[in-house]
Amino acid sequence: METRLCRCDQEGISEAARILRDGGLVALPTETVYGLAANALNESAVREIFAVKGRPQDNPLIVHISDLSMWEPLVREIPPQAIRLARAFWPGPMTVILPKSDLVPMTTTAGMDTVAVRMPLHEGARAVIQACGLPLAAPSANLSGSPSPTSAQHCVKDLWGKIPLILDGGESSVGIESTVISLVGKPTLLRPGGISPEQLEAALGEPVAISHAVTEPLAPGERPTSPGMKYRHYAPKARMVLVESDLNGFLRLLEAGGEGTWGLVFDGEERMTRRPCLTYGREHHPEEQARELFAALRTFDEKGAQLIYARCPDHDGAALGVYNRMLRAAAFEVIKG
Ligand code: TXA
Ligand code: MG
Repeated sequence: METRLCRCDQEGISEAARILRDGGLVALPTETVYGLAANALNESAVREIFAVKGRPQDNPLIVHISDLSMWEPLVREIPPQAIRLARAFWPGPMTVILPKSDLVPMTTTAGMDTVAVRMPLHEGARAVIQACGLPLAAPSANLSGSPSPTSAQHCVKDLWGKIPLILDGGESSVGIESTVISLVGKPTLLRPGGISPEQLEAALGEPVAISHAVTEPLAPGERPTSPGMKYRHYAPKARMVLVESDLNGFLRLLEAGGEGTWGLVFDGEERMTRRPCLTYGREHHPEEQARELFAALRTFDEKGAQLIYARCPDHDGAALGVYNRMLRAAAFEVIKG
């Protein structure tokens, strides 16, 4: 298939809307990561998303809307807690899970009777939704298993020749995927992201449970509340090890590594070792780390890294999302000391 790369301007947006209304697929920018979008209500279009990504059939998609009136037809009801969250964080990097209406096909929710909905902050993303007038199912626009794309170039790498259009709307300003919160039962954080648990609790006025799968591997045979948590994710091809130690301990470990060993370090630390390193923002600056992490993971693949020792981010607040992605990229291999 011939793929076009267009700027996310009026012309690009109109072209995207035309393709989406025809049941086609478009990679488009959002503030979190780029999404691979299709009409969420068109089963064959949604099936094509799974096919193009090589996505496991049991992993449900997030449905994107451009204004609140698009939410109601997708869900059974919108409880007061959901309104509170939407008022506080939409448009923005937060996804809310509620029981779905009959309008949403099971293909979109991968057989679940709930649906994840998000209103993105990126103007281009909302303009496309508005222009086609459809709720858009959009997982991250990477091939399944590789790091999520934070630029149009990343989408080109993964999807060229597989879809008709990639819209370039600049680099994603958040850089990791949205915070996913379920309001089915007690509020539960399923995936940390741009909005921290503390921010969610402040907006809700009640505690938010954190699914143990956020920071722990699933037990063998355990059924995840969010199927996406089952899979090794965001991972470079190299083996990655998360190192929870002070800087000196980290540098000793890095120096002792053989040929093909790289460091993933905080800004400035690359000057303290002879080993090759990539950086992912300043220490204790989780927003910077989130913005740079996935691009760094992709660069390791291009450089042919074999083993990556990574400096560990903070674990709480805004850093929880970064920590969660790094644990997954490292397949939970952590060295302490
Ligand atoms: O920031 C984002 O959320 C990006 C952009 C494109 O909006 N999208 C994204 O989609 O990250 P994806 O498909 O890569 O991740 C969706 C996550 C998966 O972990 C999936 O299992 C979970 O949300 N999810 C979706 N619907 C769900 C549902 N009904 N119940 C539980 N988890 C759900
Ligand atoms: Mg994804």
